[in-house]
Amino acid sequence: MDDSPETLELLERNLKSEGYDVFTAAGVSEAIALLDETHADLVITDYKMPKSSGMDLIRYVRENLRNTEVMMITGYATVEGAVEAIKAGAEEYLTKPFTDEELFAAVRTALEKLKLRIAGQDRIPESIKSRYGLLGESDAMRQVYGAIAKAALTPATVLITGQSGTGKELVARAIHYSSKRASAPFVPVNCGGIPESLLESELFGYVKGAFTGAIESRAGFFQTADGGTIFLDEVSETSLAMQVKLLRVLQEKEICMVGSTQPRKVNVRILAATNKDLLGLVKKGSFREDLFYRLNVIEIAIPRLRDRAEDIILLVRHFARKFAAEVEKSEPRFSDKALSILRNYAWPGNVRELENVIHSLVVMTDSDTIDVPDLPDLMRYTGAREDGLHRTLDEVEALHIRNVLASVGGNKTRAAEILGIDRKTLREKMKRLQTGPL
Ligand SMILES: Nc1ncnc2c1ncn2[C@@H]1O[C@H](COP(=O)(O)OP(=O)(O)OP(=O)(O)O)[C@@H](O)[C@H]1O
Ligand SMILES: [Mg+2]
Repeated sequence: MDDSPETLELLERNLKSEGYDVFTAAGVSEAIALLDETHADLVITDYKMPKSSGMDLIRYVRENLRNTEVMMITGYATVEGAVEAIKAGAEEYLTKPFTDEELFAAVRTALEKLKLRIAGQDRIPESIKSRYGLLGESDAMRQVYGAIAKAALTPATVLITGQSGTGKELVARAIHYSSKRASAPFVPVNCGGIPESLLESELFGYVKGAFTGAIESRAGFFQTADGGTIFLDEVSETSLAMQVKLLRVLQEKEICMVGSTQPRKVNVRILAATNKDLLGLVKKGSFREDLFYRLNVIEIAIPRLRDRAEDIILLVRHFARKFAAEVEKSEPRFSDKALSILRNYAWPGNVRELENVIHSLVVMTDSDTIDVPDLPDLMRYTGAREDGLHRTLDEVEALHIRNVLASVGGNKTRAAEILGIDRKTLREKMKRLQTGPL
């Protein structure tokens, strides 16, 4: 992209002669519109542009297009310009005037980097998904795999957020088992499931005589997890008093057993999970702000299943195979209609709900093809129930757009064709209805 037609034409001619497919745009918004339509391996942009700067384009590419590299052309060699460009995510830059050879070399380097980057992206997830049972190929899940890989390299505390059944515990396990602590214990603690009066002694242990019935000292979860990882599930369910104690563990890396005033050092990595809006609880005063920030050093937010609908069929097939093997049946087939209903269902209970539904389908269905009548009533009649007559047109429209987008893997051009509108209208509708990312 360049505002000078001569430069633009020159670049186009030169790069075409080298066999590249070249598209040109004379401004940032034109370039963005073009990138919306067409995948580009490399974006070459001028720094100085009439209305908005080339920097805006770089930022757009970095935030929206994972598999596109950026190269910046600067009019004169300003250090600031180059630094700013690289900070914003340009991989390469070229200073005017440049020779054809310099241009080609820079383009080759940028494309080489892109290849390496894409190969790297695929490498990390493979090792994690195959080992820890996390499935899903959607971009959203790939981001989760990337975050797990990063979190595994550090001892930092991680807050895993996501609705019920999205796989928070699986993610916690994946972090532990791909970290250096893998050979030490992983100890999950359901903070919501243990009565408040017991939680402290369960976590920290107690000394003999600490309370009636404490005839012997007993270790708590933190001692059990020594050298390993403790997973504080449903951490929002702890009392404010308990939160103070957890804060102390995080800050001082020591615990006090119940009935003792002697602090003991512990070497435990903490992972925490919640399906609540923890920051909201902080604002309401029911969760300590200082603890929130201590827990939230790294946040891994797991998407709802309906927000990564492209993973549904893959999960259906996986669980069908798994449960069929368990009862020594052959793997059932699903009719197209049944698959389409499964794909469009809202899955409020996320992967856990899907797992349960498929389990019962495999066990209960006698024929080898699962069809619409086999599906739970709730799903077959969702149309009449929760999507029913109290819905506004906007809600119905938003749902339909989301489903169509999901069915074409987020490809807006194809979605617009199916919906019978043009891309611009689709974009406007998505913005207005806030259908959000898939
Ligand atoms: N991405 C995934 N791939 C395969 N299985 C998954 C995935 N996510 C979740 N599951 C399965 O779904 C079930 C629920 O997962 P998990 O217990 O980790 O969820 P959770 O977020 O901790 O739920 P809750 O908030 O209800 O405790 C488990 O049986 C898990 O194996
Ligand atoms: Mg859980």
